[in-house]
Amino acid sequence: MPILTVDDLRTHYFTEAGPVKAVDGVSFTLDKGESIGIAGESGCGKTTLAMSLMRLIKGGAVVGGKIHLGDISLLDMSINEFRKIRWERISLVSQAAMGALNPVYTVGSQIVEAIQLHWDMSKSEAWERTAHLLTLVKVDPVRGRSYPHELSGGMKQRIMIAMALACDPEIIIADEMTTALDVVTQAQVLKLLIDLQKRLDLSLIYISHELSVLGQACDKMIIMYAGKIVEMGPTAKIFGAPKHPYTQKLLGSLMDIHSDCVIPDSIPGKPPDLLNPPKGCRFWPRCTVGQVTCETQEPLLIEVEPGHYMACNCSDDKI
Ligand SMILES: Nc1ncnc2c1ncn2[C@@H]1O[C@H](COP(=O)(O)OP(=O)(O)OP(=O)(O)O)[C@@H](O)[C@H]1O
Ligand code: SF4
Ligand SMILES: [Mg+2]
Repeated sequence: MPILTVDDLRTHYFTEAGPVKAVDGVSFTLDKGESIGIAGESGCGKTTLAMSLMRLIKGGAVVGGKIHLGDISLLDMSINEFRKIRWERISLVSQAAMGALNPVYTVGSQIVEAIQLHWDMSKSEAWERTAHLLTLVKVDPVRGRSYPHELSGGMKQRIMIAMALACDPEIIIADEMTTALDVVTQAQVLKLLIDLQKRLDLSLIYISHELSVLGQACDKMIIMYAGKIVEMGPTAKIFGAPKHPYTQKLLGSLMDIHSDCVIPDSIPGKPPDLLNPPKGCRFWPRCTVGQVTCETQEPLLIEVEPGHYMACNCSDDKI
């Protein structure tokens, strides 16, 4: 049984102009020890999906679908019951979370507080666990006595990973975790997370604009466009033989170091307004291979080969 099952999830933001359908019918599963990468252009609903899984949506709500952790239905729980799940079974590392470290407390004491909030542990036991967590993320436990401003960006992000691991969760969601870091530090933090994921047998949902990072870190890929999954499958298949026209364009926008052309392709146009998305295929206005029917006929996500799913009205040979 998958550790996480997301079924037809719909999350809307409520605005004066109407509901913004930021996540609109998303389904996938995550197995124990598996890592899934989620990619797509800005505004396609990646963070909304992550926040829906953490039940941290502000200015909107999950309006439909199901989320199961094993056989527990997370959306049927009260928010108080869910607080036992958040951080103890699913936790989050994000770029925004790094700024959430309180500048007036040492980073170690903030990890201690997180542990004690969830677990019945004495202060000295919680400090012992904090030292263990800091060692896991390759930070000298002495740095637990430092204040956030005394640490580099990379070190702060390691602290955030230690914080996410504080209560021994099974699933970690990393949302643009390394975006604010320089390339070298990004690579180090990413390597750390991949090592920890394997060592602790964690399940990982990794959200990033950096397709090459996802390619290194993830077993499976989900490509989102305008609140929906357009393609999903093993990373090697998605990178080696992408099937959906949007995935092909997205990967085409990666710089090919083997090509003579050093200017990556960009995708003309922009994703639709999710207040009023197109009725049929949401990619239709930008798709270069679309048919007339695509304007009105919404494509369904179907399995095109074992474990590989795509939502496109046109079969391979027409594309
Ligand atoms: N609080 C909010 N109120 C109204 N609309 C929102 C709110 N938060 C996000 N949105 C809209 O929901 C859609 C999805 O946003 P989301 O942040 O989930 O995208 P994203 O894929 O994470 O983008 P990025 O790559 O830029 O982080 C966007 O159209 C965004 O403008
Ligand atoms: S359904 Fe049609 S418009 Fe949409 S991606 Fe496929 S070919 Fe393009
Ligand atoms: Mg985001």
